[in-house]
Amino acid sequence: MKLIFLISFLLLIDIYFYLGIVSIINKLVNNKIIFKIIYWLACIIVYTGIIYLVITYNKKTPSLRFNDNIIYTSLFFVFFIAKLIGSIPLLIDDILRIFRYLFSFLISSSHSYEIGRLSFLKKSALIISGTLFSTLLIGIKWGRYNFKKNYEDIFINNWPSSLENYKIIHISDLHLGSFNSITKLEDVVSIINNEQANIVVFTGDLVNNYYHEAIPYLKTLKKIKAKDGKFSVLGNHDYCDYVGLERDSKKWKENFVNLLNLEKEAGFDVLLNESREIIVGNSRFNLVGVENWGAGNFNKDGDIDKAMKKVVPNIPTILLSHDPSHWSRVILKSPYNINLQLSGHTHGMQFGVEISGFKWSPAKYRYKEWAGLYKKANKQIYVNRGLGHLGYAGRVGIMPDISILNIKKEI
Ligand SMILES: [Fe+2]
Ligand SMILES: [Fe+2]
Repeated sequence: MKLIFLISFLLLIDIYFYLGIVSIINKLVNNKIIFKIIYWLACIIVYTGIIYLVITYNKKTPSLRFNDNIIYTSLFFVFFIAKLIGSIPLLIDDILRIFRYLFSFLISSSHSYEIGRLSFLKKSALIISGTLFSTLLIGIKWGRYNFKKNYEDIFINNWPSSLENYKIIHISDLHLGSFNSITKLEDVVSIINNEQANIVVFTGDLVNNYYHEAIPYLKTLKKIKAKDGKFSVLGNHDYCDYVGLERDSKKWKENFVNLLNLEKEAGFDVLLNESREIIVGNSRFNLVGVENWGAGNFNKDGDIDKAMKKVVPNIPTILLSHDPSHWSRVILKSPYNINLQLSGHTHGMQFGVEISGFKWSPAKYRYKEWAGLYKKANKQIYVNRGLGHLGYAGRVGIMPDISILNIKKEI
């Protein structure tokens, strides 16, 4: 039933968009029939594929079914988004036409009205949708694995002078179920190891749903090196909550334990509402990690009170927490002196602009802190843009992120 609604909705958008732009295409293209055939054939192929995927997904796990076909589902997404956003000028045009119709009806005694579409709005629809379509396709081909090193100096007031320029490599959101390339993950590991970090932290969403998505990448993850250790926390996708399993079911528990074991085998110390004291020579700081805590409908297994129980007082404290909404909703209001939170989760929506100091993404309308460093009073949060991808197998403007954080003493 849901599928029928979905397809009907998509079909309505297709027809609406087609009727809106067909006259412009007729002027541009000599062979109108060819355009019609290409447009509707593309629609039929995309719909047939999606219907096939949805109908057959129960035969395997839904997770694997969609992970294996991520390029296909991404193409579907590209088609759909391009037409949906492209329809906005047409909708504006239709609203204007209603007003123009009413206006001419009121001031004229004649009953014959020909209110045509505004040509520039029709052209806008075509240009917007064409640009979006090609940009999103380019993002699949050239953005998906275009890893970017983001350097950031972070100043902490009580940071020990002996640990000046302490290097934390922060990665997040690998989403290995759809990562789809061991070679590309090997490239990531080389980039990380060349930096010779003090610690490497991973802030969650290792998989999309099931622990076994990560098995092919285990050998590669083991190769990540860090002088003072590798630490991780869980993201909302690491709980197997999106495939209809109950938390108290045997299958759910097995998956959870297996995921934790896999991370440990890869050399990560998974922090589940707990802390570690990192000691380097005579200097030390607290590294705290919470389970996922997300605003809204996301799971709230993170427990900062529990995690802070064993921290050493009066030394710097760094918190790993997957979802940045945890910072403003809980951490800033808490009595704890947490100098820096490291998060991921937003992916920067895998779409936006980042040019020399200017950054924009639709993610900013959902998350106040969505990429990079933010400060409030004495507290700071750094949000990683994610290394993998989910839903759309590409990146436009907001590239896969390897954050290299240089921690310094604030003078
Ligand atoms: Fe994620
Ligand atoms: Fe997430």
